[in-house]
Amino acid sequence: MDIVSLREQWKPFFDKIRQTKEFEEFTKDPWSQSFYNLCATINEVFPDFVFDSDSGETKFVIIPEDYDVVFKFPNVPAKHDYSIDYCLAEARNYRAAVEKHLDKYFAWCDKLFDVYTPNGYYPIYVMEKVNCDEQSINEELMDWFDNNYDEPDSKDEKEMIKYEDTLQEFSDGSSVAVDLWFESIFPDDYMRLIQFFATNFIDDIHSGNLGYRNGEIVIIDYCGYHALFDSKLPKDWYSKYGF
Ligand SMILES: Nc1ncnc2c1ncn2[C@@H]1O[C@H](COP(=O)(O)OP(=O)(O)O)[C@@H](O)[C@H]1O
Ligand SMILES: [Mg+2]
Repeated sequence: MDIVSLREQWKPFFDKIRQTKEFEEFTKDPWSQSFYNLCATINEVFPDFVFDSDSGETKFVIIPEDYDVVFKFPNVPAKHDYSIDYCLAEARNYRAAVEKHLDKYFAWCDKLFDVYTPNGYYPIYVMEKVNCDEQSINEELMDWFDNNYDEPDSKDEKEMIKYEDTLQEFSDGSSVAVDLWFESIFPDDYMRLIQFFATNFIDDIHSGNLGYRNGEIVIIDYCGYHALFDSKLPKDWYSKYGF
């Protein structure tokens, strides 16, 4: 995807949005209610712009119906000096993945621009839109589990507990289950991929953080969470990749 044309394409849109009271309020204090209000305002300002919205622990996301990108807004106020911008971490990690030739496993993303608000500059990110059908992914995970694990003899208590724990991981679509699954679906690059996760503090790859691009699994939330929060990053962590 071409970030220069995306910037040109979306600048007039965000120029309008950034002038609204709701954007100012959202960027001062990004939380579910201020994001909800912002979405309502986008609907009013651009009635033909059809979109869904979603959010997790670290980001708010606008998913347009008629475009092949999504917009990600970090859960950090414009004026801040301590919180982590997890979208920035994601954009940085994408460039790191390109460097290691692992980018095909990640939805493309980049920083769109910083927009001016009375609270200071607020960064907006853009990501390739993929099909985040968590239910299908969970079904695939369960199929894989069923094909790869046999229920042990119920008399073998230790094996039974292990089996049930693993079954639970798969039912939850947890990062433990996804890791086992990745080893099987990405046999060529699995070792390099998990090494990449470790060196870039990427954790929390559960089924809700995956999507399909042309039927292939890609990761859509790869900023890391606890691992990034808990680590002391080298000084050039972001600048090394031009951020
Ligand atoms: N590239 C994408 N394409 C489609 N939907 C997305 C994309 N990125 C995120 N989403 C949706 O937005 C949700 C929140 O985004 P995510 O990056 O996981 O944020 P968080 O870090 O807060 O969990 C995802 O669970 C997914 O449903
Ligand atoms: Mg997520």
